[in-house]
Amino acid sequence: MTKVLLDCDPGIDDALALALIAGSPTLDLVGVTTVGGNVDLALTTANALALREFLDLGDVPVAPGSPVALMRDNVRASHVHGATGLGAAVLPPATKPAADGHAVDLIVDTLRAAPGEITLIATGPLTNVALAVRKEPRIVDWANDLVIMGGSYTRGNHNPAAEFNIITDPEAAAIVFDAAWVPTMIGLDVTLKARMTSALLDRMWGLGRLSDLLVPAAQSYAQVTETSGPAIHDACAVAYVVDPSLFTTVPAVVNVETAGRYTTGMTVVDFNLRDRAPSAQVATDLDVGGFWDLMLSSYKRLGARLG
Ligand code: RIB
Ligand code: CA
Repeated sequence: MTKVLLDCDPGIDDALALALIAGSPTLDLVGVTTVGGNVDLALTTANALALREFLDLGDVPVAPGSPVALMRDNVRASHVHGATGLGAAVLPPATKPAADGHAVDLIVDTLRAAPGEITLIATGPLTNVALAVRKEPRIVDWANDLVIMGGSYTRGNHNPAAEFNIITDPEAAAIVFDAAWVPTMIGLDVTLKARMTSALLDRMWGLGRLSDLLVPAAQSYAQVTETSGPAIHDACAVAYVVDPSLFTTVPAVVNVETAGRYTTGMTVVDFNLRDRAPSAQVATDLDVGGFWDLMLSSYKRLGARLG
């Protein structure tokens, strides 16, 4: 089993990533932390709490974190994820509250209690992770790995230079990538290959009540056609933890631009190490067929369990 702690901003693809965790027999979810991102913190937290119950995740602690970026005005994506953050998916409201305490403390305390055992997965802006690194720098040693859905070594999606999770809090991203760990960066270069086409969407039906999340969420995320559809970005970060062999990664030095007039939020990825130690392992390719085989087998398993 691999213990994972998910820091997220649900968010449609965050929700599908959480469902992948719930359907993966090799993952043990030990915590969820939320951050303002796709929608405001109150909504990302409400969505995480509702998903915890809808996906039968038991008493996994859910702790809210930072509502805003370290130094910048909010960047939101409700035009993509809908007013609630889950698109057209409507879940029963949570009946159980969030954990006491802040996300940063849940991250630090959970990693401290199990050094070397827990993989931290970040699928939203990196504000909580940056604050955790600042509060307790030793988490870079305590985390078994840090897997980030974010960045790109080609083009952005928020603008030509920047991917959403990075541009939302570039200073936080710079702190995280500059810290003394070597995260795995699952960027748009591979996640844009993980598109849910109509043939794949058709296979999200018939999974019991899980379909009530998957289908409306995916349908409202982006137009679904025979040849294209919404990119399920965040699930790629989880898929990497389940089966790294689905990805090709290359060591690189990654710097985050925080001052460029047109390039702030860009992950400047240098694959030419020039005798420098790599600061990240950057995903450069994805076995798309293998990814969807994993997604569908996990969702089928989860759907059967949820009924
Ligand atoms: O750029 C894609 C990322 O931004 C995903 O994490 C999505 O949920 C949004 O937060
Ligand atoms: Ca996200």
